[in-house]
Formats: sequence, structure tokens, C-alpha cells
Amino acid sequence: MRQADDGATGLTESQLRAMEMAGEAAVAYRKNLPHQPARPSLGLDEAVARFSHPLADAGMPDESVISHILQASEGAIHKMTGPSFFGYVCGGSHPVGVAADFLVSAWGQNAASAYESPAITGMERAVCGWVIELLGLPAGSGAGLVTGASLANTAGILAARNALLARQGWNVEAMGLFGAPEIPVLIGAEAHSAPLAALRYAGFGSERAQRVATDDQGRIDPAAFRQALDDCSAPPLVLLQAGQINTGAFDPFAELIPLVHERGGWVHVDGAFGLWLAAVPALADRLAGVQAADSWAVDLHKWLNAPYDAGVVIVRERRWLVEALSARGAYLPDVTQHWEPSDSTPELSRRARGVPSYAILRHLGRQGLREMIARHCHLAQRVADCLALTPGFRVLNQIHSNQVILACEAGDAMTMKVLEQVQARAKVYPSHGEWAGHKVIRVSISNYAMQEDDVDLLCTELEEALIVCQ
Ligand SMILES: Cc1ncc(COP(=O)(O)O)c(C=O)c1O
Repeated sequence: MRQADDGATGLTESQLRAMEMAGEAAVAYRKNLPHQPARPSLGLDEAVARFSHPLADAGMPDESVISHILQASEGAIHKMTGPSFFGYVCGGSHPVGVAADFLVSAWGQNAASAYESPAITGMERAVCGWVIELLGLPAGSGAGLVTGASLANTAGILAARNALLARQGWNVEAMGLFGAPEIPVLIGAEAHSAPLAALRYAGFGSERAQRVATDDQGRIDPAAFRQALDDCSAPPLVLLQAGQINTGAFDPFAELIPLVHERGGWVHVDGAFGLWLAAVPALADRLAGVQAADSWAVDLHKWLNAPYDAGVVIVRERRWLVEALSARGAYLPDVTQHWEPSDSTPELSRRARGVPSYAILRHLGRQGLREMIARHCHLAQRVADCLALTPGFRVLNQIHSNQVILACEAGDAMTMKVLEQVQARAKVYPSHGEWAGHKVIRVSISNYAMQEDDVDLLCTELEEALIVCQ
């Protein structure tokens, strides 16, 4: 292939063109977003068929590959970055984070090693430090940049496992789990599936965990919790939740956490999205006491709107995180002295996934972050207030943060019909859920750009869909 610039760049013309095309197409995509339907026009099978061909013997020029990807993806990219997306608690890939993400790929740094990629380590340490401080968590906690809350929960639970077993005189790193002392596990009846999966990954089994009764908002009931604690035969691992996926509610941390500590247990908090409320002084009392826990999981790609994929595990006593995750071997004495990013994450080689979050936090500043979180909570209340007045709909939750769940008075079939109608109209995109044994329409407000007009359009679309379906 012919070299560009007399070969001085080390890149071929085709390589340069491919990078430019991708950059231009990415910007054009975001500029054109307001004119795009809220959901893909292409179905799954058709989209998959566009890519399922045998791998040819002969390769393609770089720019042809990029134009193929662009053409074949046409109509099959979901408008998840736009303020019309109300599904699944997704962020919107903030543009400044996207811009920084371009650099992440171009730089191609392996974030595993502080010595080899110092700028990345600098930015990642800054992000971890800021997140700890913004959320009011203990200074000096250990933190690792992982792919999201699923892995952050897993990492926190692994740290807890090591600490709780060590307190019972068992070195799990050396001995594994076979023959280890029991660790009772308590988790709320309305916990997200991610911490249950994490329990499985960590060898606890999801069914061994005792599910503690919750109230009508999905918060752990303190009386049931005390009873469950009394039944524990050893210091327990307790999984609490900051932000129930349907209601957005918070467990009563101030009441529960001291009870666990009195019994020598460990509290891990799944705060995938809800923990961000702690960064807003006016709202932080909704999570009062959460800072007393031992470990926390929080996403960056949800409420911070970082591009996928990024989350943080935070552990009060860093040594437990390092012992559980360092690929260098937990019992090496230098592990805690020579700080390596890979000591706090399950991966060794890793994308520099903290860089986009560094950019977003620098861009927003404390004020911008607080404004965004508070605005989303205000918008959730606005949706609830509007739909509570609409005959035919019922709002099923109190507004604790950014989540609203609603159902049709006519029952589950009508709820699903209305949701399908709204999605098919493709102006906005809420998603589905289940609550108290019933189908619900779930509205998550977490896109950085979302404003009153966007949620008003959502309400209008829901109201019109209900009329069509009745
Ligand atoms: C409360 C809660 N925990 C954990 C997760 C899993 O997070 P992730 O998808 O980033 O792994 C989610 C995702 O929606 C969540 O809402």
C-alpha cells in the first residue's frame, strides 16, 4: 500500500482516510441525531444478516472496511445517546467523553501499567480520587476502574470475601473456597440481578443468599433485617442498594449498616446509578449513612454519561481489593507499596477507560455534575406529576431519584400494548420492567442533554398511545 507523506507518518493513505472517515462519520452521526427515529428501523435478523458472511481470504482496504461498517449499520444503531432514550438507566455518551475516547483508541495505551502509561495512570487516579470525594466516601479508599457496575459489584464482593474469611482465620487466596468457613449473605428481595450474578462469580452461590423482605419501594425492611442478622451464624456479607432499578429508592443505610458492623460483618453497596445522588448536597440526605459501608460499586457510563464501558469499585480498606484482584499474587509484599492500576481490577491488559470520565468531570466541574443530577431528579418528578393526572395510568413509585414506573389501569396486557405503541411511534423510547408481579413501563432519566421538553414529549407520547390502544 502506498505511503502518505513520503512515508514520514508511517501510515498509508488508506489508513489515514479510514481514521478521518470514522471521525467525520462519528461527528455527523451525533449532529444528525435529532432527526433520527428513537429506535432502529431495522430488525435484529436483518441487521445480523448484513454482517454474517464468510471471512474472505483477501482483506479489504482500510477505508472500505469503515464504509462497509457505516453502510451495514445504517438504520440499526439505536438512538441511545439522544434525550429521547428513557430505557435501562443509560447515559448518553457525553460528547466531551466521546472526544476523549477517540484519543484512547488512537493512543492505544495499555492501562495496566503505571510506569508504561503514566498519563493514563494520572488521569485514572484523578478520576478515582474525584469520585471518592464527590460521593463523600472515605479518603484513602482503594478504587479500580472496571467495565461497569457488574464487575464493580463482583470486585467489591471478592474483597469482602477475602476480608471476612481472613477474620475467620482462612486465607482464601491460598486455600480457595473448598472447606472454608461459612459466610452468611443477606441481600434485599428487590436487589438487581447484577449483585446476585456477582455472588455466583465469587463462589457464594446466588441461592444461598438470604433475601430480606422489602417495602413497597423495594427498600429493605429494618425489622426483617434485624431478624435475618440474628439468624447469621458468622459475620455476614450484606449487599445493600443505592438506587432500586424500578423505583430508584435507597436502602435505609444509617439504620442498617451499624447493625452489620456490630456483628463484624461487611457491607457492600450496589450504587450503579443511585450513588451519584451523594454528589448533590441538596439530595445527599436520601442516602444518609451510605459512607459507613465497606465497599461500593458505581457506574460511570450511567449517570456520569461516560461512553461505554466504565465503572468504579471502591473499597474502604484498599488491601482487600488488592489482595483479591492483583494479578501479581496477593501475598507479594510489594503489592501494596508499588501502586499499579492492574492491582485493583480483574484485568491485566486494559483499555484506558478512565480518560473519558476525566474529560467529562473536568468539563462539568462540581457544579455541572450537581446541576445534571438534580435536573434529572426534577424531570422524573415532572413525569410522575404529569402522568399521575392522566386517567388510565398509574404511577407506581414515589420519586426518590431518576426512575419512574407506570402501569395502565386496565392491566398488564394494556401496559405492554401501550409500551409497544410508544416504541413503534419512535419519537421516544421507554423500556419495560416488572414490579410487584405486574408489567410496568419504566422511565429512566439519565441522559446529560435531557430537558423539560424531552420529558413533556414522553408524556404526550404515552397519553396518545393510550388513546390509540384503548
Ligand atoms: C442497580 C444496578 N446494579 C447493577 C447494574 C449493572 O450495571 P452494568 O450494566 O453497568 O454492569 C445495573 C444496571 O442497570 C443497575 O441498575
